[in-house]
Amino acid sequence: MPQKIKVLSIFGTRPEAIKMAPVVKELEKYPENFISKVAVTAQHREMLDQVLQLFQITPDHDLNIMAPEQTLYDITAKALLGLKPIFEQERPDLVLVHGDTTTTFIASLGAYYQQIPVGHVEAGLRTHNKYSPYPEEMNRKLTGSIADIHFSPTATSRENLIDEGIDPESIYVTGNTVIDALLTTVRHDYSFHNDSLNKVNFAEKEILLVTTHRRENLGEPMRQVYKALRQVLEQRSQASIIFPVHKNPAVRRVVEEELGQHPRVQLIEPMDYEPFVNLMNKANIILTDSGGMQEEAPSLGKPVLVLRDTTERPEAVRAGTVKLVGTSAETIARETLELLTNPEAYKNMANAVNPYGDGKASQRIAQAILYHFRKSDQLPEEYA
Ligand code: UD1
Repeated sequence: MPQKIKVLSIFGTRPEAIKMAPVVKELEKYPENFISKVAVTAQHREMLDQVLQLFQITPDHDLNIMAPEQTLYDITAKALLGLKPIFEQERPDLVLVHGDTTTTFIASLGAYYQQIPVGHVEAGLRTHNKYSPYPEEMNRKLTGSIADIHFSPTATSRENLIDEGIDPESIYVTGNTVIDALLTTVRHDYSFHNDSLNKVNFAEKEILLVTTHRRENLGEPMRQVYKALRQVLEQRSQASIIFPVHKNPAVRRVVEEELGQHPRVQLIEPMDYEPFVNLMNKANIILTDSGGMQEEAPSLGKPVLVLRDTTERPEAVRAGTVKLVGTSAETIARETLELLTNPEAYKNMANAVNPYGDGKASQRIAQAILYHFRKSDQLPEEYA
């Protein structure tokens, strides 16, 4: 049993950073128990750096792998080779990874090659369709097979792991750390640094907040989404769209073509996390293909139309705040107009519910690590 547990947290993209920041901060609170180290692959650059700054995390290692129009092969090969010397230098007792990106899977694989135990945060989400989301469904399955400790956000995600033969004793239901981050960031009196956002009349207008980035939606599916948005604007003169556009040039090209010239569309740069979640809190309806926003929006009481055919987050669908609408222009326009014109339909979806967490997930994760390494005999209380 080590004196102190050396934990190396590894992440690479913006959402992983948002959801790992509360865990890193929690480990730092207990220097008598943990030595906390951070390595970033920087699969994202600008979008990652914003989050590191906000949460005041200075990585001990930065692989800086991002390249324009990078492919899955590029990220995979660069991250795997780049992490090897870091594992050799740090020799951590535990590597912590998050979620389902290529960084997640490759960091787990690299740790496994050195026989270093792996803890997987946000473990057990599944659509059971290996190409949707692509490659995330396979990334999280492969990470789940490698991991030694699984931090599942909900009971449903624990069941998914048990169905795959994972030892139940290695699974802790903790809630999702995204809610830990959210609860420290949303404020009802928030005002933006960006003037054009401060001028928006959120109380009177119909404001749609839109984001898209999924690989399986690139090209024609995304074009259909944007065409649907144009139809909605044509039919509702009081509606407007705020759209922070992902840095991926393949996303930007099509957005510009379809929505660039519309007077009621604000295309803006990807926002920092703090203004972004506060914008979610003020918007009327959210249309997105993001996974994390499906977790954040229910606790803010915002209806979410998910621009995908599958979701690994059935809890919010069951709770009624999230609806899958796919990428057909007709369906998206119809469902959005329904929410804009039928107050009853809007009210039914705009329920504030919290299927994903209570803000204590990171505490439970830290406690579970101590328990796993026999530094404490106290099992963390389960998130219910
Ligand atoms: C990645 C993850 C996805 C996660 C998403 C969150 C993989 C395969 N995909 O998808 O699971 O949901 O992050 O955003 O791991 N780019 C920039 N600047 C940035 C960020 C990205 O220019 O700050 C460009 C990159 O050069 C790249 C493109 O955007 O060519 C796409 O980035 P990439 O990490 O390959 O995939 P994402 O779609 O962001």
